[in-house]
Order: sequence, then structure tokens, then C-alpha cells
Amino acid sequence: MSRLQVLHLEDSEPDGELVARRLTTEGVAAQIVRVATLPAFRSALAAGGFDLIISDYSLPGADGLQALAVAIELAPHIPFLMVTGTIGEEKAAAALKAGATDFILKDRLERLAPAARRALAEVAERRQRQLAEEALRQNEAQLRAVFDGAPIGMTILTADLGFARVNAALCRLLGYTVLELHERTLAAVAHTEDRKDLGQRLTRLFDDGVPVSAEYRLRTKADEIVTVKITTALLRAQPDAQAVAMIEDVSEQKRLGSQLRQAQKMEAVGQLTSGIAHDFNNLLTVILGCAELLSDTVSPEGREDLDAVGVAAERGREMIKKLMGFSRHMALELKPLDLGALLADMANTLTRVLPASIKVRFAPATGSQVVIADAGAVEQILFNLATNARDAMPEGGTLTIVTRYPPTTRGPYLSLAVTDTGHGMDSATLERAFEPFFTTKPAGRGTGLGMAMIKSLMDQQHGSVTVESSPGRGTTVECFLPLAPAGAVRSPSGEWRAPTAVRASGTILIAEDEEPLRRVAKRVLEREGYTVIVATNGSEALDLIRARPVDLVISDLMMPKMTGLEFYHALRGDRINVKFLFTSGHAPDDLRSSPEFGTILHMMPKPWDVPHLLAKVRELLGG
Ligand SMILES: Nc1ncnc2c1ncn2[C@@H]1O[C@H](COP(=O)(O)OP(=O)(O)OP(=O)(O)O)[C@@H](O)[C@H]1O
Ligand SMILES: [Mg+2]
Repeated sequence: MSRLQVLHLEDSEPDGELVARRLTTEGVAAQIVRVATLPAFRSALAAGGFDLIISDYSLPGADGLQALAVAIELAPHIPFLMVTGTIGEEKAAAALKAGATDFILKDRLERLAPAARRALAEVAERRQRQLAEEALRQNEAQLRAVFDGAPIGMTILTADLGFARVNAALCRLLGYTVLELHERTLAAVAHTEDRKDLGQRLTRLFDDGVPVSAEYRLRTKADEIVTVKITTALLRAQPDAQAVAMIEDVSEQKRLGSQLRQAQKMEAVGQLTSGIAHDFNNLLTVILGCAELLSDTVSPEGREDLDAVGVAAERGREMIKKLMGFSRHMALELKPLDLGALLADMANTLTRVLPASIKVRFAPATGSQVVIADAGAVEQILFNLATNARDAMPEGGTLTIVTRYPPTTRGPYLSLAVTDTGHGMDSATLERAFEPFFTTKPAGRGTGLGMAMIKSLMDQQHGSVTVESSPGRGTTVECFLPLAPAGAVRSPSGEWRAPTAVRASGTILIAEDEEPLRRVAKRVLEREGYTVIVATNGSEALDLIRARPVDLVISDLMMPKMTGLEFYHALRGDRINVKFLFTSGHAPDDLRSSPEFGTILHMMPKPWDVPHLLAKVRELLGG
């Protein structure tokens, strides 16, 4: 045990020694500093470091009470023992009242050591208490720091759902200050549709201690909805119950989750589609081609029936196009495209599909509107948006089509925004609008493929699409297409030219394994005046072309024995530089990147129809 540090105020040296001896004989190890005057006492105390003060009562020019006052002023926690000769009981009582720890008469010094020991014990105990209090304070500060600085929202709730305490993350999440939250309740900031359930769950928490762990929507000060996960624990039961709640923003998590589900669905539908789309398309091409060939030869009534066949097959083709569009099986030709010109071209078409009660307004951006896109895809997108807008405005309204340069943060894009003044979508519909087969329309009216197709086509064109809508306030769908680099040449709009009366000439070799398709292509080309020879696969075609000159090859990509691509490479090996037109639903990347692409090597997306085929052949043969 360390030595007791004692400050002794005593003007008589023998008395001072008496006290020192007494402490030693009683076994109290003490280091005593003795001072004889009040000023010396004061300065010693001010220097500090003492555990115990012993003071005489009668001092030269002062008394014990004055010394006590100094001690209380400078070192209130150090025990003060008054050791003195006989003084009246009154003075002794006054000294104790003034704060002296004990009062010992010089002729009863045997009390000194126990008093000193007691004082020492008290000091030790007080120190212990101080340490404990300090530790508690530190603990509290740490807990407070954890609560206040926690990266997720935390609050202490009272049974009436008031915020007894909130942390900074919760304030940030909800956009309110601490004071503003203290004036509100959790129920008040909950989405109206979630309020009842949240209230019931929290009542069970406060009444029966049943913890809550569920997702709710809260409304921020800026009137935005955030989805949060609320997890609670009861801190104190009724009455005066309190619970702690963690409020975690899960909006982003939810968004990613639904994106994943969406992607998985697309994947599944995509696989399904690719299985049937190819064959289905070929069937439709044959039906349409034959109908067209027949229409020249039948009676007027027969022609009407054939037109009906044509219309039905066209609708089938539209459906397949949508399916292929979002399952990435439509071969897109991404090249410079003047969006302004395309919109001007489409204005008429749109006005035709929309009823007179819907006004169409165009507001093109000024400046270059050349984007890198696929004209057919953009037309499909616009057509679908217009149909959706029409369905949303059964009583009529306005359809506004705007092109604009979005804020530069989005990068070099041109946006195509289509706005209607229709009934809009609630949040549940909005969330699922891009989901394949999600529709709110009655059976037979919607397949739920339009928006899914738009999303996928925008992805494939390296763009993006956003929707804004709320019930009764209309809808805006905005598509962001990459701008073409300055100087890019726009593709001529209206790729297909009208058939000319002039009879065409030239020899065309068709390599196609599907007999009906081969037959239709041969028939329509012959009708135009071309000489047509056919092959059912690449190697047959190679034999034919080696035997006689040909002006153009039209070849399928996937064929038995020798594929279109192998056939093409074999021709190049023979140095036969004939123009080559591939027909395919997919466009292999190595074809597109070939230096011959666009000069002698061309692509025609499948499904083709008769006008497409004729236009493309005329373009390549310059007829
Ligand atoms: N402009 C709009 N206004 C209001 N609701 C819309 C709008 N566009 C889409 N929706 C909602 O999104 C759903 C999905 O649209 P989508 O175009 O994918 O399918 P659909 O129009 O129902 O059917 P489909 O386009 O295949 O004929 C619609 O059923 C509708 O509820
Ligand atoms: Mg639609």
C-alpha cells in the first residue's frame, strides 16, 4: 500500500512530532508535510497531491475554521481532521458542521490512527466510485455514438409510436430534422396503405413483446416513397413502454431484386421464343408470299379472301416480331439514323392508328438528331408507345412526341420522349410494366409484350428507357438513344423503294434448305424478270455457281451439309466476287466485322417479306 500523503497544519513542532509518531506506532505509513501558517497551508494545498489534512485549531493569527474554509475551497474531497487541545463543545460542533471530517482532542490521540484509516478508506472508495462513474459515462457516450452514427436509421419509439429519440441516418433517410421527427409519429410518416398494418404490428410489440421485422413504405419530407425494413425490439414493457427500431432503406435492394426477376423471366421467354420463332416466321413468309402470288390470278372475291389471309398472317408476324424483339432474336442493324426524319415519316402512320379524339404533337429538338439505331426497332418502339397511349386515353387526349438532349450527365444521347394525357399507372403497375406478359388489359386486348419489347430493343441499341407515370396524371416514356459521332451519314429513310414497272434482269442463285421458302422466293423473283436457280445447301450452290455465272447469291445461314458461311468462304477461295445476300434472324458478329460487309456482303433480317426481298435485290443489282 502506498504511503498516505498528509498535510499537517501545526505551529508547534512537538505537537507535530507527536502526531507523526502516533501514526507510525499505530502502523499508518504516512508521508507528512507540516506547515505552520495559513498562507503556507494554502500554497501547499494548491500544489496538491494530499490524501489527508490534519489541522490544529488554534493557530497564530488564525483559527482551525479558517483553515477548514481554505481546504474546502481548494480541496473539497480531501478528509479534514481537526486535532486540537481543549476547545469548547460549541466550537467542535461548528467545525464539524462546517465540513470537518472528524474532531480529535490532543489528549485522546489514540483516535487519530483509526480516523486516518477511515479517511483513507473513504478516499479509496470515492476513487473507486469516480472510476465506475467515469466508465459508465464513457459507455454511455459510446452507445450514444453508435446510435447517432449508425449507418442505418434507428429510433427509440414510445407506445404511441412517437419518436423519443432518432439518429442522423433516420433524419437523412426521411429528410426531417430531429425536432421535426419529435413532433411526428412513425404512423404519420408511413404510407397511407401501410399505416394500419404497421400500427397493428407495433401495438402487438408494445402489448405482448412480439417483435416486428417487415417491409413498409415511408413517405419522406420531399413526398417521396422509400421502402424500408423495420426491425424492432421491446426495451421496456408497459406502462411507459419503449422499443428500439432499426429502419433500413431497402429500395435499392428491391429494385435490384426485381431487375433480376425480370432478367430471369426474359431469359426463359427468350429461350421459348427462339425455339418457335424461326419456324413460325418461315411459315408466315410462305403464307404471305403465296397469298401475294395468288392475288394476281384469282377472281375479285378470291382476292378479298386472300387479303384476309394476308392480314391475319401480318398480325401473326407482328406478334412474332414483338417476341423476337425482346428475346434478342431480331437482327438489328445499328447505323446512323436521322430520328427527326424518321419521326416525320411516321407522323402519318401514327395519325392513322390513333383515333381523331387524340391530338398528336411533335416537338423535335434543334440540331443534329442522328443517332445510332435500327430504324425498324425505333418504329416498333414508337408504334407500341402510341398504342399504349391510345389505350390509356379512351376519351381522347394529347400524345406528345419530343426529341431532346438530356442533361449532359447522361452522356451523348438523344432522348425520344412520348407523353400521353391518359389515366396513368399506379405504383404496382409501373413496377411491372416492363415485365413480359404483364398486362392490365382485358383478354384479347393486350399480350403484355409491348413494354418488354421496348426495354429489350433499347438495351440492344445500347440505350435505356425510363417511365414516369402516376394515376390520373398521364405517362411519359423516355428512350435514350446514343448520338452518332459528328459527321456520320444518315441512312436514307424509306429503305424500300416502290416496285417499278421496268422488268428486271440478272441471274440469282438461291441457297435455302426450306422448300416452301425457296419456292416463294424463286416465284416472286421470276415474276419480276430475274433468272433464278436454286440449291438446298451450300455445297449444291457451290457446284451451280462454278458451272455458270451468277449476279447475286441469296443464301440462308443455317443449312445442312455446308452452311451459308462455309459456302461464302469457299466462293472467296475460288475468287468468285459475286454479291452475296445472307438472310438470317441472327447476324453473327464475325460477318458484321468483315471488311466486305456492306460492299459485296449484305444481310437481310429474317423474317423477310416480298416487298423487302424485292427492294433489297433491286438495291444490290441496281435494277
Ligand atoms: N401509356 C400508358 N398509360 C397507362 N398505362 C400504361 C401505358 N403504357 C403501358 N401501360 C401499362 O403497362 C402494361 C404493360 O404494357 P405493355 O405495352 O407491355 O402491354 P399491353 O399494352 O398490355 O399489351 P401489348 O402491348 O402486348 O398489346 C399495360 O397493360 C398498362 O397497364
Ligand atoms: Mg402495349
